[in-house]
Amino acid sequence: MKIEGLDAIKVLNSRSEETIAVYIKTPKGKVSAASPSGKSRGKYEINQFSSKGINFSISFLNLIGKRLAENQIVLEKFEDLEKVENLIKEYDKSENFEFLGGNALFALEAALLRAMALEKSMELWKFLNPKANSLPRSLGNAIGGGMHIKKELKSDIQEFLLCPETKHLYDSHFLSLQAYKELKKKLLECDKNWNGELTDEKAMATSLPTEYTLTLIRDVSKIIEKKYKFRMQYGMDMAASTFFDAKTQEYVYKNLPKRLDSKKQLQYVSSLIKQHNLFYVEDPFQEDDFESFSNLLKKNPKCLIVGDDLTATNLERLKKAVKMKSINAIIIKPNQNGSLLRTKEVVDFAKKSKIVPIISHRSGETSDYTIADLAVAWKIPFIKTGILGRERLAKIDRLIRIEREMGA
Ligand code: PGA
Ligand code: ZN
Repeated sequence: MKIEGLDAIKVLNSRSEETIAVYIKTPKGKVSAASPSGKSRGKYEINQFSSKGINFSISFLNLIGKRLAENQIVLEKFEDLEKVENLIKEYDKSENFEFLGGNALFALEAALLRAMALEKSMELWKFLNPKANSLPRSLGNAIGGGMHIKKELKSDIQEFLLCPETKHLYDSHFLSLQAYKELKKKLLECDKNWNGELTDEKAMATSLPTEYTLTLIRDVSKIIEKKYKFRMQYGMDMAASTFFDAKTQEYVYKNLPKRLDSKKQLQYVSSLIKQHNLFYVEDPFQEDDFESFSNLLKKNPKCLIVGDDLTATNLERLKKAVKMKSINAIIIKPNQNGSLLRTKEVVDFAKKSKIVPIISHRSGETSDYTIADLAVAWKIPFIKTGILGRERLAKIDRLIRIEREMGA
């Protein structure tokens, strides 16, 4: 595949923030890809854009596009992204593409993969893995708070997630939607302060105490299970770094139970897992506390204990987490490091180490659905995306289409 032209531009994500889209022209036609943006970003993620700003990242991408076109660099397979990264490294001397930025690099590499797939007249997932034959299960954000909404009265926990256990993706999305509607009815009854406001990920932004919310989810799950005869599992992303006070070394809750040191946090999270039979808990401790993660996993080996800010899609941090037995599952967000080659290394290492990879959207999304194709091609068993909203549905719709193409 040879590039005839590359155009990087500024676009707005679902939170109306600036991000980058890359358009590529090849002899076979045009393709594009765009990057999402996080709000509760971990400190070990690379910057979204160059420290010189988004405009600099855009000019940088356009320069790389020009060099790729002028030098007639041939890109035919996933591994050829290395040629592109080597070209970038001629200008970006930082270790982790900090000079270019994670959002910029992801948009570039995702667009290049699309161009390579188009050259072969193949869908992206099939181009990446012709043998792919399974779909991920969806994890949908139903109720939320934390950094994903600006208001005083809100849930401490960033996301309460639903995960129906179904064979087909369409069923999974349908059940999440039904549960969402049931939950909405209950929340309108129980939370007099809630006026229907939604978080950035279109989850319901209520302010009920955590335990109460989990009880409602359990009740609704039972209703759905009885009615549709599928199992509904659920869990939460605590994003604990966002309410950790580094000075006092405490987790500061606005709802009960107020302030907890790491030992009490361990007891608290463990009791929630046991009482509510949670199957999933993401970032229950701040992003440097590998040890508490490890203690929690020891006590709750059946629950998915998931690293997101902890691991930041970074191979070295994953290796540390594996060594310390801190997690049994990891969030994969390609723009946390930008490089799809490095992201794939993280996924491969996770699988080799029996850590469950979970690919994820960001709270500020675009309609780009590259992560859906990556989930299928890389045989990632879960995808975390929303239940409502055009940008979230873009991924779900894509998966439903792939499922159909596969004849699964
Ligand atoms: P984000 O957070 O706002 O950084 O996308 C989502 C998450 O913590 O999983
Ligand atoms: Zn998270």
